[in-house]
Amino acid sequence: MSLTREPEKVMPTGDELALVRTAFSRSPTLANRKRLVRMLLLDDQQDQVRSLLDEAADRSFADEVALAAAWLAAEHEHGDKLAVAAAGRALSLAQDDQARSEALALSGKAMARLGDRKGARAALEAALALDPANKDACKRLAAIELSEGRGDALLQLTDRLGGLGAAHARLFGARVLAHARLGNLAEAKREAGDPHFHSARELPPPPGWDDIGAFNDALAAELLTHPAMRNDRYGSASNFTQRVEAPSRPDRPAVRALVGQILATIHERIAELDPADSDWFDACPERAFLRTWCVITDSDGFEGWHVHQFGWLSGVYYVRVPESISRGNSNAGCLAFGLPEDLAGREGAKRYGEKLVRPQEGLMVTFPSHAYHRTYPHETGEKRICFAFDVRPLD
Ligand SMILES: [Fe+2]
Repeated sequence: MSLTREPEKVMPTGDELALVRTAFSRSPTLANRKRLVRMLLLDDQQDQVRSLLDEAADRSFADEVALAAAWLAAEHEHGDKLAVAAAGRALSLAQDDQARSEALALSGKAMARLGDRKGARAALEAALALDPANKDACKRLAAIELSEGRGDALLQLTDRLGGLGAAHARLFGARVLAHARLGNLAEAKREAGDPHFHSARELPPPPGWDDIGAFNDALAAELLTHPAMRNDRYGSASNFTQRVEAPSRPDRPAVRALVGQILATIHERIAELDPADSDWFDACPERAFLRTWCVITDSDGFEGWHVHQFGWLSGVYYVRVPESISRGNSNAGCLAFGLPEDLAGREGAKRYGEKLVRPQEGLMVTFPSHAYHRTYPHETGEKRICFAFDVRPLD
């Protein structure tokens, strides 16, 4: 695998947004509006995207998609209805099947929220007919099948999509959930790569550092003072956390060293994997980049159940872990692999069970991106700092 670093982002999103906003107010061209919409969405300012685009008379396909996403983020019924309308306009403006599929997946999401299951199913099936690799459509249609107890139909769907070349975390995750719903727990675990494709081992200090403790201290200092620190991001699984997206910067040498260490360790771990009989392993990308972010919690912060939709392999490195977690015996502050009840069903999730990973400073955990996981709040009042990453395929 050719695995590269993500480009370093020197300017924090807020500063870049201020520049783009000034450029748009001076010169309100379509190109500047497009940049502004992109930055506003990145900065979770969906209300401003709505007011900016609602007034615009000359909306493009990308504008209508952004408007639909911004209305969905409003999280109310009227917003969902306006999202259906924007997605419909996007569909009429789409120039190719992938774009049509994107618009239909947005329609399907909004219709499902409005309780129009039949309409949602039709839109999502149409989205997948146009683009079998559409991750969002796969996720939403899988949720409908699971809610109707149709695990068999979901396995058939994923088989069909896989036969058409789709191989992504939503598809593999859907198979795990379908097997759990059907009571095939051994098969659900095998598809989740548990335990063969999970690993948890301590990292040695990177070149230039003799001691992992001193390295973690330097990392913690660089992350806690990071200019891009922000609160929860909309659409992520984080609750009551602080996050730094893309933390690597020229003025953060320990973070850069950690990224180098993670890259080297990922290559070692992939070389150790036993291919077994795994569609996930077969989907190992030839070209990928390492996406990184940092999550900081100090009390009631946690991550709800999620998979990493855009990743193939994911993981976490623990920079700072309060002793009550690393030496504790409860689940507080731990990482847990298991399944969400709302998708796997109460019985399926309970029988599948939870596997806890107890964070330790210096520990690096890797797992297939489609393995469902969550974290528990720790209520210690001390900082728990983790550095998360995805190996993301480059198409
Ligand atoms: Fe995660």
